[in-house]
Amino acid sequence: MKNYQDDVRVGLLGFGTVGQGLVQGINLQIDNISSRLGAPLKIQRALVQDANKKRVVGLPELTTNARDILEDPDIDIVVEVMGGEQPAYDYIKQALGQRKQVVTANKLLLAQHGPELKALAQRNGKGLLYEASVLGGIPILRTIQHGLCGDKVEEVKGIFNGTTNFILTRMVELGEDYPTALRLAQEAGYAEADPTMDVSGLDAACKLVILCRECFDLEFHLKDVTMSGIEHLDQRQITLEKRQGRIPKLIACAKPQNGEIQVGVQWLPETDLLSRVSGVQNALSLKTLLAGELFWSGPGAGGLATGGAVLGDIMEAAERVLTERDTVFQQTGK
Ligand SMILES: NC(=O)c1ccc[n+]([C@@H]2O[C@H](COP(=O)([O-])OP(=O)(O)OC[C@H]3O[C@@H](n4cnc5c(N)ncnc54)[C@H](OP(=O)(O)O)[C@@H]3O)[C@@H](O)[C@H]2O)c1
Repeated sequence: MKNYQDDVRVGLLGFGTVGQGLVQGINLQIDNISSRLGAPLKIQRALVQDANKKRVVGLPELTTNARDILEDPDIDIVVEVMGGEQPAYDYIKQALGQRKQVVTANKLLLAQHGPELKALAQRNGKGLLYEASVLGGIPILRTIQHGLCGDKVEEVKGIFNGTTNFILTRMVELGEDYPTALRLAQEAGYAEADPTMDVSGLDAACKLVILCRECFDLEFHLKDVTMSGIEHLDQRQITLEKRQGRIPKLIACAKPQNGEIQVGVQWLPETDLLSRVSGVQNALSLKTLLAGELFWSGPGAGGLATGGAVLGDIMEAAERVLTERDTVFQQTGK
C-alpha cells in the first residue's frame, strides 16, 4: 500500500518526439507541478523499441518490455505516446485492466476505438484523457467539454494538419512545386519519411472524427469522411487561383445538420481568417448557437507544445490518483 505522501508515478509507452517533449516540459515546470499537485510527479520509466538510440533528453530507466510498465503496481498513470493502432490498442486496454489512469496522444487509435476505450475506462472507474490527440498544443478538448458545455456547437472547421499547411504555404508564398516543398518539410522534421497519413488528409480526418464526437456527440467512422489530400496540387493551378485572390488550404469541416463531414483542399479568399494561418500552425473555428463564431490558432504539433498538452492530462489524472489515495487513507488510515 502506498503512503499518502508518495510520488505520483508515471510510465511512458514511447519516448520519441512527444515523450521527450513531455519530460523537457516537466523539467521546466517541476516546482510548479509539485506545488499545484501537492505531491511530486515522477516519470518511472519509458518503453522504447531501441534502448540504445540517442535521445535529446535523458531518463533514468528505459525498457523494451511493456510489462515493466503495464504490470508495475507502483505506476499510477500510463501515458501512451508511441502511436499507431497496434500494440498501442492492446497496451491501453491492459493498462485500464490493471486499473491505471491512462493518457494518450494517439488520434488514429481514438478515431477508430475511442468509444470502446472510453467505455472500458468507465467500467474500471479510471480516466482516459486525450487532449493532445487533437491540434497538439491548442487546448481545445477541455474547452469544448467544460467551457462550452452550456452552448451548442453547430459547425466545426479548421486547419488540422501542420505538415500540409507548411507545404501549401511554401507552394503559395515561394512558388515551390509539391515535391520540393514536401522534401523541405521532411528535412525540417515536419513530415515523416512516409508522409501519406498527412498529405492524404487521413491525419486531419482522425482529428475531425474525434472533434465530431466531442462537439456533436455523434459517432462517425473514418470511412464516413469524404477525404482528399494535397498531392495533386500544382503550381499552374495555384498561380491561376492566386490571380483571383484565392489560396489553397487543407480544410477539415463538419456540419452534421447537412450530413457534411469532409477533408479536402478549399480555395479561400486571402481575407479569410484561415488563409492567414501559415506554416506549421493549426487553427479551429467553431460556430456555436450562443457564442457565435470562435477561433483558435497555435502549434498543432511539436514535442514541447504537444508534451505540454499531455502534461495537462497527466495533472488531471494525478489529481484523480491523489483523490483516490485520500479516500483509501480516510477509510483505512493507510
Ligand atoms: N509529434 C507530434 O508533434 C505529435 C502531435 C500530436 C500528437 N502526436 C501523437 O503522439 C504519438 C507519438 O508521436 P511521436 O511523434 O512522439 O512519435 P515518435 O517520435 O515516432 O515516437 C514513438 C516512440 O514510441 C516507441 N515505439 C513505437 N512503437 C513501439 C513498439 N511497438 N514497442 C515499443 N516502443 C515503441 C519508439 O521507440 P524508439 O524511440 O526506440 O524508436 C519511440 O520512442 C502519436 O500517436 C502521434 O500521432 C504527435
